[in-house]
Amino acid sequence: MTDERTAMRHALALAERGPATGVNPQVGCVLLDATGTIVAEGWHRGAGTPHAEVDALSRVPDARGLTAVVTLEPCNHYGRTGPCTEALIAAGVRRVVYAVEDPGRLSGGGAARLRAAGVEVTGGVLAEEVGEFLRPWLTAERLGRPFVLLKWAATLDGRVAAADGTSRWITGTAARQRVHEQRARADAILVGTGTVLADDPELTARGDAGELMPVQPMPVVVGERPVPADARVRRHPAGLVETRSRDLAAILRDLYDRGVRRVYVEGGPTLATALVAADLVDDYAVYLAPTLVGGDRLAIGDIGIPTLADARRLRLDAVERLGDDVLLLARSARAEGRTP
Ligand SMILES: NC(=O)c1ccc[n+]([C@@H]2O[C@H](COP(=O)([O-])OP(=O)(O)OC[C@H]3O[C@@H](n4cnc5c(N)ncnc54)[C@H](OP(=O)(O)O)[C@@H]3O)[C@@H](O)[C@H]2O)c1
Repeated sequence: MTDERTAMRHALALAERGPATGVNPQVGCVLLDATGTIVAEGWHRGAGTPHAEVDALSRVPDARGLTAVVTLEPCNHYGRTGPCTEALIAAGVRRVVYAVEDPGRLSGGGAARLRAAGVEVTGGVLAEEVGEFLRPWLTAERLGRPFVLLKWAATLDGRVAAADGTSRWITGTAARQRVHEQRARADAILVGTGTVLADDPELTARGDAGELMPVQPMPVVVGERPVPADARVRRHPAGLVETRSRDLAAILRDLYDRGVRRVYVEGGPTLATALVAADLVDDYAVYLAPTLVGGDRLAIGDIGIPTLADARRLRLDAVERLGDDVLLLARSARAEGRTP
């Protein structure tokens, strides 16, 4: 006998098997019979493939009377696949238990549709854990722009470059490998034109041996100036996007419309400052090396804070040691629970 919280934890583990990138959320589902035994499991493998509920339903000959335990409220719209609500109703599922509501303007409303068809529905089971797991996707859906993770690598005194502009490499290999992992979990990488002109980065996600990872985020160069014809980022396998604009809110909206749900911002300081000042950063990944260079090349410039009492307050999520360096993961406190 599996209780519904335990079944939800199992569904969450299934959800984690799906791809973290892309337009669709990672969702898992298990089907329980009347004795609470798991009779099928399913998860979503990415846009265009069956949703978790439909995947689980396809693995039982007869779903009548079963309980579906699913991490996200079943969708209620025709996308590339049909609505999960209709599939659950047609299959004769008796009860649906979900963790978090689908905030999608088009896909939401599944619980109401199921109830109207006589299905017993309970939401909010393990909502905190699942909500945390799905936070980037949920944030993107609520705000209509991608989830923004801002990263920088700084010396212990907060400098991201030396007086002559050199910034490679501030951190060691373990930290740089962690950056590649973070790149691979994003749909797009953003940098300002200044960074492309100064560093000529490739912006690919690479493994330990320098090999390209199977999934490559799209590089987006933000700013009015053109990217030089011979810039390395022009040869990026995912194809370069040049915004030729500084309008960050419009750029993020446009990326959302292209299916981007997570962006990883790699600087430089001018772009980072503009994003922070405009309150467009959700999470921070700050790599700190135990070195000092002094000077004025700070990670963040003026963000309009006149006095300490007005300091932007972040919530520290984790601290990781990577060789001699440290990674601080923090989130923007006011981004929590924010609705559009
Ligand atoms: N340590 C690190 O983590 C790290 C990371 C990246 C870079 N860096 C270092 O940072 C330095 C480059 O700094 P940077 O500040 O020039 O680079 P940047 O932030 O990449 O680029 C600055 C340019 O972005 C454009 N831009 C786009 N949106 C903007 C907005 N909303 N407001 C203002 N400007 C906007 C502007 O150029 P347009 O005129 O084209 O509009 C601006 O000049 C280099 O020394 C590099 O090595 C360090």
